[in-house]
Amino acid sequence: MKILVTGGAGFIGSHTCVELMKSGYDIVIADNFCNSKRETIGRIEELGGKSLRLYEADMLDLEALRKIFAENDICAAIHFAALKAVGESVRQPVRYYHNNITGALNLVTAMNDAGCKKIIFSSSATVYGDPATVPIKETFPLSAASPYAQTKLVTENLLRDLCVSDPEWTCILLRYFNPVGAHESGLIGEDPNGIPNNLMPLVVMAAQGKRQLKVFGNDYPTRDGTCIRDYIHVVDLAQGHVAALNYLKKCAPGAEAINLGSGSGSSVLEILNAFEKAVGVKLPWEMGERRPGDVPQLYADPSKAKELLGWETKLTLEDMCLSSWNFANRQG
Ligand code: UFG
Repeated sequence: MKILVTGGAGFIGSHTCVELMKSGYDIVIADNFCNSKRETIGRIEELGGKSLRLYEADMLDLEALRKIFAENDICAAIHFAALKAVGESVRQPVRYYHNNITGALNLVTAMNDAGCKKIIFSSSATVYGDPATVPIKETFPLSAASPYAQTKLVTENLLRDLCVSDPEWTCILLRYFNPVGAHESGLIGEDPNGIPNNLMPLVVMAAQGKRQLKVFGNDYPTRDGTCIRDYIHVVDLAQGHVAALNYLKKCAPGAEAINLGSGSGSSVLEILNAFEKAVGVKLPWEMGERRPGDVPQLYADPSKAKELLGWETKLTLEDMCLSSWNFANRQG
C-alpha cells in the first residue's frame, strides 16, 4: 500500500517513514529539502529496510504534485511539509501563509483530482492558544497566537470543510505536543538549518559547549515558575502516525482531531535536570526573561488517541534526552 509523505525528510516525517516501512507500507516522499538534508533519505531506507521513491518537489508546485499522483497509486497522504518556526512566522507572515496554506490547498487539489481522499494532517497543540485549563481535550476552544498557528488552524478548517462538501473525504488532524528525541540508531534526528528555536536542541548545544542556555522566565504560575510542556519522543509520535493510518483505512469518512501527547507535563527546569541525570553532564544555563508568546502550561489529555487508535506513549524523558544526545554527537 503506497503512502505519500510530504516533508518526509524532516524531523517527524523521517521517523514516521521508518515506522511505516517497518509496518509494511511503501513510501513516496515529496520534499523540497528547505529544512532537511538529502542524506536522510538513504538513512530512512536503511532503517526501514526497503527502498522508497523520492520526488524533490515543492508544495507550491501543483503540477509536480499532480505528477506524483499520476505516476503512483497512492491510497493516502500524510502531510508534514510546512514551515514551522513560530518566531519567524511573526516576522514573515506572508511567506508562512503562502507556503503552508497554498501548499495544503495544492495537495488536496491534486488528491481530489486523483480520487485519493484520505489524509493525515500534521497539526499542533498550538491551535489551543492559551487554554483555560489542562489537560487539554480535543473539544477545547481553538485560537491562534501566531501566523504559524493560524496556518495550522486554517488548514484544519479547510480539511473539515472538505469533509462537509464531499462525504468521501476522511481527514485525521493530529495535534502534536512537543516532539523531541531521535531514532535510537543515531542516524536520524532533529537537524534544523541554522540556530534552533526549541528547547531540546538548545540543551544539547549547551551540553556540547556550543551555546549558553537561557531559561525563558521563572515567574509563571507553575510548580517551579518555569513553563510546562508535554514532551513526546519522536519515535512514539511516528508510531502514532502508523496507528492513525491503520485507523484512517477503516474509519467512517469525516474529519477527526486527535491529540498526540504523553498526558504529563514537565517544566523547563525538570527537563534540564532530566538531561543532566540521563547524560551525566552539567549544563551551563542562566535564568532569562520570558519569551513573548509563551503560555504557562500545555499538556494533553491523550485518552482519545488511546481509545480510537489504541496508541499511547511508551518512551521516557530519559530516552528522549539520551537519544537527542546520541544523535547530536554522531553529527559532530
Ligand atoms: N525554552 C527556554 N529556553 C530556550 C528555548 C525554550 O526556556 O532556549 C522554553 C520555552 O520558553 C518553553 C519550553 O522551553 O517554555 C519549550 O519551548 P519550545 O520552543 O521547545 O517549544 P514550544 O512549546 O514553544 O513550541 C512547540 C513547537 C511549536 C508548537 C508548539 C505547540 O515548537 O511548533 O510547541 O504548543 F506550535
